[in-house]
Amino acid sequence: MTAQGFADVLIGTQYGDEGKARVADGKAKEYDVIARFNGGANAGHTIVHDGKSIALHQVPSGIFYKNTSMYIGSGCVINISKLDEELENLKKSGIDARERLHISSQASVIQPHHLAIDANIGSTIGTTKNGIGPAYADRALRMWGERVLNIRMGDLQNDPDTYFRMMRANFEAMAALHGYTADIDSELAEMKKDFEAIAPLIEKDTLFLQKKVMGGAKVLFEGAQAFMLDVVKGLVPYVTSSGTTAAAAYGGGDLSPDCHRKTIGVAKVIMSRVGHGPFPSEFGGMQSEEYCMKANADGSPMYGKAVEAAYDVDALLASSDPFDVGKAIRVLSGEYGTTTTRPRRIGVFDLVQLSHAVKINGIKSLVLTKCDLLQAYSRTKNGMIPLVTGYELDGEMIDYVPASLNAYQRVKPIIEYREGFTEDIKNAKNPSDLPSALKKVLKEIEERAGCAVEGIGVGSDREEYVTL
Ligand code: IMP
Repeated sequence: MTAQGFADVLIGTQYGDEGKARVADGKAKEYDVIARFNGGANAGHTIVHDGKSIALHQVPSGIFYKNTSMYIGSGCVINISKLDEELENLKKSGIDARERLHISSQASVIQPHHLAIDANIGSTIGTTKNGIGPAYADRALRMWGERVLNIRMGDLQNDPDTYFRMMRANFEAMAALHGYTADIDSELAEMKKDFEAIAPLIEKDTLFLQKKVMGGAKVLFEGAQAFMLDVVKGLVPYVTSSGTTAAAAYGGGDLSPDCHRKTIGVAKVIMSRVGHGPFPSEFGGMQSEEYCMKANADGSPMYGKAVEAAYDVDALLASSDPFDVGKAIRVLSGEYGTTTTRPRRIGVFDLVQLSHAVKINGIKSLVLTKCDLLQAYSRTKNGMIPLVTGYELDGEMIDYVPASLNAYQRVKPIIEYREGFTEDIKNAKNPSDLPSALKKVLKEIEERAGCAVEGIGVGSDREEYVTL
């Protein structure tokens, strides 16, 4: 039977935080279902709605349209208490997401021992400490003797007593091995209570989404994290633990691949990255990575938003040290983690990485976010817009992202400069409102990425967008 509906996939092409939620929110009215297929509460999706900034972690974007349903697919890992809290917070903002949210019975549960493991070993990667890696590892391990490690939403729904008992046993086994301490009884009691509120949202029918599309529904898959953080194709080991590619949407989103219509990529023209790992075009290189990752004794970031707000942005932009330019752009762009509040590392727009992502994900069109910020370059020493147009590895030019971490760290990005612009473009509505210098840069991006740019973000509000 041929499906009457279809699915599009929206993914980030870089290291996350490209502004996918805002793009998904802008497109949501064209679809019947917005679905997540990977990750969990590690995602931090911010949407500005009625002038209010709302952060979503597990609930898919689309909540602001009352005719749109939301689906959390089997590829996701769910923190039950955090999901319940998120739904309650949305309710306080006048949005009852529970009526329209459906959860796959095959999605896995984040258990207390996953959080304990991540809190203990996650800092070398710089994880969000949401237990994501340990949960996906347990999914692959399946069992440890008689203990079930991969506990799913449907398991808890069918037989809560057995599986909550199993969760306790899993924590105790890990605690005995590593000396973890926690009041596991009260943690589980809390989780049980929260689960009761979530349980009615679990779909018993594993063909739930498939049947919807067969009946004509249009689905938008909303990727979490981003292509460069894919567990296999990304910059291993500094990646997340799920599949973030367009192809992963169908496995983790519970839909057959023949429903696919097109893939849309989101790229931020001023790049950012949180956590450790290679970032060839980073302003200030290693110095910036160390600075951004520095934490106080209580784990909070040493150079967070409040500290940096006191910086003299004009002086930093005019500096000949790229590390300073990066700091200024972070302040102007408000690049601080939604989940972690860490300062994000900032870099030049990398067109080699973008073209690599376009090829492997079959991206048909791109949305470029934060284009208004390119204006900041007019206040730098040479006043021009930098772009990474090539990679040199050991004296040879390459057109791909190398697999080996060591090789990627040796890559020398070739940076070229294009004419900048001084105009504030926040109020631009049509392509004709854009400065010619920006139009030229957009054309070059299309040529180098090998794919059309369908629209650009010129501010954080839904309306601050130009369709090309
Ligand atoms: P984890 O997904 O919490 O295990 O973290 C692994 C890596 O992915 C770390 O570098 C995180 O900072 C990064 N990461 C995870 N989720 C996001 C996201 O939504 N945006 C950006 N980076 C993310």
